[in-house]
Amino acid sequence: MNKVKVCRLSELHEKEGRRFYSRDYDIAVYKIDGNVHAFSNICPHQKAAIIYDGFIEDNCVVCPSHGWMFDIETGKAKSGFSRLKVYETEISGGEVYVIIPEEKLFANW
Ligand code: FES
Repeated sequence: MNKVKVCRLSELHEKEGRRFYSRDYDIAVYKIDGNVHAFSNICPHQKAAIIYDGFIEDNCVVCPSHGWMFDIETGKAKSGFSRLKVYETEISGGEVYVIIPEEKLFANW
């Protein structure tokens, strides 16, 4: 398990995505209703690195390219069988950490 510090909590704005890189990971982070959610930034539809630039609707993060919607808790697509990777987050001392399971290193999607 890798716990990666990405930013300070105060740097995140409600429902506005931010993009971070860590090792080989491209990560999209959103603050939604005060909670921090982290996803792979790579949309499973066309492998576009664009999730950070999406928006939040109906408890989903919406890819700005073609509008696919992924549940913010599970990453499951609202329709179809695709799934966006969801990472655990942790807040400590005002810092935001993203937790990436060891087995997922070097496998961004
Ligand atoms: S690339 Fe995300 S919905 Fe098409």
